[in-house]
Amino acid sequence: MNEFFEDVWRGLSASPKYLQSKYFYDEAGDAIFKEIMDCPEYYLTNCELDVFTNQSDQLVNAILKHLTEFDIIELGPGDCTKSVFLLEALVNRNVDFTYYPIDISTNIISQLNEKLPLQVPGLKIHGLNGDYLGMLDELKEISTRNKVVLFLGSSIGNRPLEETDEFYKVLVSHLLPGDLVLTGFDLKKDAATILAAYNDKEGITRRFNLNLLQRINDTLDADFDLKQFEHKPEYSEQTGACRSYLASRKPQRVRIGEVGWIHFMEGEQIFMEISQKYTVQQTDDIAQATGFAVVHHFYDSKEWFLDALWQCR
Ligand code: AVI
Repeated sequence: MNEFFEDVWRGLSASPKYLQSKYFYDEAGDAIFKEIMDCPEYYLTNCELDVFTNQSDQLVNAILKHLTEFDIIELGPGDCTKSVFLLEALVNRNVDFTYYPIDISTNIISQLNEKLPLQVPGLKIHGLNGDYLGMLDELKEISTRNKVVLFLGSSIGNRPLEETDEFYKVLVSHLLPGDLVLTGFDLKKDAATILAAYNDKEGITRRFNLNLLQRINDTLDADFDLKQFEHKPEYSEQTGACRSYLASRKPQRVRIGEVGWIHFMEGEQIFMEISQKYTVQQTDDIAQATGFAVVHHFYDSKEWFLDALWQCR
């Protein structure tokens, strides 16, 4: 049996039910996520773009202050909308580096390999297709320089807070003292702004969540009736956790291929995704606990978003 089936079956058989948000990103999911990034309520993209467009020189200065020879790695680059400003600024300053985007999607890597050198003349790019840690290991054979790792978009927030320290500890074990990591963290702010970002008026985020049920129908021969599930995000001001659920509109059962049935009570929810929001202090504490020194905080003009530059100790 394949991993997708096993994860889906395990999650839907559990109590409470859950699915893993990493499975949002099939071809249709990638396209819907692009729509989310362009929608007015999803402030995260514009905030981080504000940092990268208005402070690219400061970013370069901060990097050059700590490292002279380095390569840039980006974990999950998407279409590089933000990082391209940093790459351009480095090329314009005649810094000699190679850009290594790492992504699980072959499509994303081949598009970047093709398009980025045209967008940023003079850029050396070597895309790596695979999971982050496997590719970081592979990279050790290719590049001996120090590394600047970009992990943008508050993608870190798609992991529960309890697992965040572990993620950075493992990352640090793949890096060298002196290496830099720049992480995008979405900061805590008023609940209405956050909830609107995950419940946009046009219903794009609703489609994004339902698309995973569609993917299960298409690839595991299941029979989810998408109209019978309601998209419900919740935000806790206390914990900073924004959680998305799909709630069953009625008692129903769903067939998953030949394997069996999943039963839903009316209102029963499937937990779909966490998007954690942070205080600045929390991010500093994560750095401290996992082997980094905080080098610099870059904020957007509204101070809704933080790009934190850390150095491996
Ligand atoms: C990719 N990640 C940072 C997005 C987020 O904000 O958690 C995914 C997303 N889910 C719904 N809207 C956007």
